[in-house]
Amino acid sequence: MQSLPLPTIIAHAKEYGFLYPSSEIYEGLQAVYDYGPYGAALKRNIQNLWWQSMTQLHANIVGIDSAIFMHPQTWKASGHIDSFNDPMIDNKDSQKRYRVDSLIEEHAGQLEQQGQKKKAADLLKVLQHLLQEQDLEGIYQLIVEENIQCPVAKTSNWTSVRQFNLMFSTQVGAVKEETDKLYLRPETAQGIFVNFLNVQKSARMKVPFGIAQMGKAFRNEIVARQFIFRMREFEQMEMQFFVRPGTEAYWFDYWKKQRLQWHLDLGVPDTQLSLHPHDQLAHYAQAATDIEYAFPFGSKEIEGIHSRTDFDLKNHQNYAKKKLQYFDAEINQSYIPYVIETSLGCDRLILMLLCQGLRQETVAEGKIRTYLKLPPPLAPFKAAILPLVKKDGLPEMAHKLTEALRSDFALVYEENQSIGKRYARQDLIGTPYCITVDHQSLEDNTITLRERDSMQQQRLPIQALRDYLYKKVALQTILKKLIGT
Ligand code: GAP
Repeated sequence: MQSLPLPTIIAHAKEYGFLYPSSEIYEGLQAVYDYGPYGAALKRNIQNLWWQSMTQLHANIVGIDSAIFMHPQTWKASGHIDSFNDPMIDNKDSQKRYRVDSLIEEHAGQLEQQGQKKKAADLLKVLQHLLQEQDLEGIYQLIVEENIQCPVAKTSNWTSVRQFNLMFSTQVGAVKEETDKLYLRPETAQGIFVNFLNVQKSARMKVPFGIAQMGKAFRNEIVARQFIFRMREFEQMEMQFFVRPGTEAYWFDYWKKQRLQWHLDLGVPDTQLSLHPHDQLAHYAQAATDIEYAFPFGSKEIEGIHSRTDFDLKNHQNYAKKKLQYFDAEINQSYIPYVIETSLGCDRLILMLLCQGLRQETVAEGKIRTYLKLPPPLAPFKAAILPLVKKDGLPEMAHKLTEALRSDFALVYEENQSIGKRYARQDLIGTPYCITVDHQSLEDNTITLRERDSMQQQRLPIQALRDYLYKKVALQTILKKLIGT
């Protein structure tokens, strides 16, 4: 199945209350987005699912919620101050700044379109080599030799290539001094590392064990494109799994499989997902594999699985001058554990679900039907309750039913417009079930239940509704799949 084009998905997300450009009345803020009512509900459901599947389903994983602000030394120890950079170049005429890899990749794309496939492939190989060597002068020469122009100014009037740090900084207190500089965390992981011993001791955890957390992360992304794929403020869902040194290859493999299965259990077909081992590693990683989804703009990372060795804990131990060792009673040894990390972007997952779910199908008389096929347990509303007409006691009965089920499920009550239009509206926001109260309901206490994807309807006794819905829309249906019950 091919996703709809990205502009269609962006327009749908805005029109139907999932995502808006941030501060849109002021023309928006690049790469920052706000979640509307249905987007916020979808996000909350995803967070609950991830949290429960990490902590509730694994006896050896606990969750924390650390602060966004951290001691500035954290980022020195983690390597982010020195190594969390992207090489950039500025065009002096347009004053625009570009990530050099994106600029050269785009040029290679143009060469390919012109039929120069080999030249494009060679160019990308040279780029990879120069990036790995951090040869900024070499990258500059490549841009000049290829006569790559600024897409805005259409000139090659470039500055030299420079490294730009991706962290946002801010000031604590009233007086501006370098020592008061704080960073907005670029990953949630460091809040876990600095709390490693606190958690291990207070929750009495034994290696192997994991610490999970989700929360905001911030990166000064220069190339902000593809909607919520690359944002400046985004949400991560990360888990650091602490293991005995020497067992990291086993656990790396274990978490790769577990995490891929998690996405499959959301109903994403395996043809759309792939594992992509990294050639170029982040400064902290010994091995890394991305789980990629086939977005309309290509197969791209949604989650990273990283083998981080003892890089972070060792550096924090050195910088903080505090022992971060674990005593392993089984082997009677103290060591700094190795770490396998699973790091999922919540916003990217949402983009995946929107791309995967938004469908346009031709139905009777050439009419196009649009619907959003979200996994029912993640949908903003689990069901809509609709009186067939706004009279004859049907609204009263439908209201009563809504009240009876409201504490179990997120429901919406709608009585305006024709029943067909109300079904269509629920299809657009991904509501998996519509429950219609009609004249027969008054007589025999049954309703019609319409299923979003098939549009099929069945008659059910009101008595059976709670159990039926629970089996279809509760988060537990996915959790049960995950543990194979
Ligand atoms: N702690 C490891 C880490 O942060 P990463 O590969 O840089 O690793 C992990 O990021 C995940 O965070 C990515 O797979 C992606 O889903 C999400 N992510 C990273 N940068 C993002 C951005 N600018 N906008 C949205 N999501 C992002």
